[in-house]
Amino acid sequence: MIKITGVTKRYGKIVAVNNLDLHIEKGEFFGLLGPNGAGKTTLIKILTTLSRPDSGTLTINGHDVTKDLVHVKASVGLVPQHTNLDMELTVWENLELHGLLFGLPKKERRQTIEELLTFTELTEHRQRLAGSLSGGMKRRLLIARALLHRPRLLFLDEPTIGLDPYTRRKIWDLLKSMNNAGLTILLTTHYIEEAAALCNRVALIDHGSIVALGSPSELKNMIGSYVVVYDDQGVTRYNFFSDREAAVDFARQITQNVTIRETNLEDVFLRLTSHPVAE
Ligand SMILES: Nc1ncnc2c1ncn2[C@@H]1O[C@H](COP(=O)(O)OP(=O)(O)OP(=O)(O)O)[C@@H](O)[C@H]1O
Ligand SMILES: [Mg+2]
Repeated sequence: MIKITGVTKRYGKIVAVNNLDLHIEKGEFFGLLGPNGAGKTTLIKILTTLSRPDSGTLTINGHDVTKDLVHVKASVGLVPQHTNLDMELTVWENLELHGLLFGLPKKERRQTIEELLTFTELTEHRQRLAGSLSGGMKRRLLIARALLHRPRLLFLDEPTIGLDPYTRRKIWDLLKSMNNAGLTILLTTHYIEEAAALCNRVALIDHGSIVALGSPSELKNMIGSYVVVYDDQGVTRYNFFSDREAAVDFARQITQNVTIRETNLEDVFLRLTSHPVAE
């Protein structure tokens, strides 16, 4: 569905995306994880035609993203990192305006708006100004807006940032049900448990390049499925092992406080991306 081959994007001396290759299949729920400035938003902007790559090719359903803008815009929905609702308009007006911009006929537009208001539980807030909504409601309105023209592919750039755990899980359920209904989803997040809960595959991106790619369990196995965590004179150390027995053997030699546990995606992230990590 998405084929990215050798894509590079520079901003002056900064290489935001560096010769990146990635294929995403129809129906996937794909997660893009990486430290601040890794190139996640840049890649999403390129995929949604908001920015042009310096080199490389990108296709969505066989259509060239840099040439076939009309087709690509119609087939993708975007929930951007920074809320860009029209704050002076009501919830309903935000959706109506988006539907008009996408040329949806009136009957279909009105019907789909009703469905999406119900789906995102915003029906009773339809007459409120977008600027007066809570953060969680704004994110839900962004999702409703992104789905209005019935895209086949949804990009979400940190969709649950700053939301309480209850609202976050509500959005997870929304996203899961959309994916179950056949929508292909690409999501970026700094909440590692979000990627672990939702995504069938995850790519770790660092300095514009993919440093690891696979299912959450494949990524965990890559560094070892068990970790021994212990204190070494005020520094927390992590040692990874492929099986529990090896981890237990190692832990026996440690005299300080020691924990043995299964590796999680956050361990993989810290191990494989360039943020400082105690070794
Ligand atoms: N319009 C721009 N002009 C100049 N530099 C930019 C621009 N947009 C992004 N960059 C730079 O490109 C790099 C990648 O940025 P990007 O926003 O893609 O990162 P990100 O992975 O989305 O990070 P975050 O997790 O903080 O959202 C960064 O070094 C950033 O400063
Ligand atoms: Mg970003």
